Amino acid sequence: MKKLNSKRVKESITENTYVVLPGDTNPLGNLFGGTMMSWIDVTASIVALRHCGSIVVTAAMDDLFFIHPVKLGDVVTMKASINFASKHSVEVGVKVFAETATKQIKKHTASAYLTMVALDEKGKVKKVPSIDPQTEDEQRRYKQAQQRREWRLGRKTKVY
Ligand SMILES: CC(C)(COP(=O)(O)OP(=O)(O)OC[C@H]1O[C@@H](n2cnc3c(N)ncnc32)[C@H](O)[C@@H]1OP(=O)(O)O)[C@@H](O)C(=O)NCCC(=O)NCCS
Repeated sequence: MKKLNSKRVKESITENTYVVLPGDTNPLGNLFGGTMMSWIDVTASIVALRHCGSIVVTAAMDDLFFIHPVKLGDVVTMKASINFASKHSVEVGVKVFAETATKQIKKHTASAYLTMVALDEKGKVKKVPSIDPQTEDEQRRYKQAQQRREWRLGRKTKVY
């Protein structure tokens, strides 16, 4: 049975699709990293917004590796879901795929984990619903996200 004030992962799953236009690329026709980061951020925000039901801001984006270049005309799909919820924040995982539709090639080009914090209408941090991981994958992601959270917050204390 679902716990009170908890939500299922599937309730906030989000998929966004973009096409790489000339204004998104460098002179070699490769997508700018910053543009992809912006798409990742928007996609993660929608997941967090759906889960928290409130305003959300990005507190952190973990290491982001661009595995393959994404080319002009490619179709880029972002698949995102919530991994973990603590008191005022959630971790969202985003997986990015690029598809050269004319050649029927689809590649996993990047992955990212973002921490989003919920705010009320006065801009104060706000409690978020917990999550209730159901499937094996959801439970694995939940455990891994807990470990990343410790690493992330430990690093924050050292850096600031
Ligand atoms: C994110 C922000 C609201 C946190 O404010 P704060 O005063 O540190 O608030 P708190 O200490 O009460 O922490 C609130 C939550 O943020 C989390 N948090 C704060 N800094 C974090 C960081 N660097 N990484 C991950 N989580 C962080 C805390 O763990 C806490 O969540 P929890 O209760 O689930 O553990 C504040 O730093 C902020 O407004 N940052 C700017 C956000 C923004 O504008 N983003 C867009 C960038 S252009």
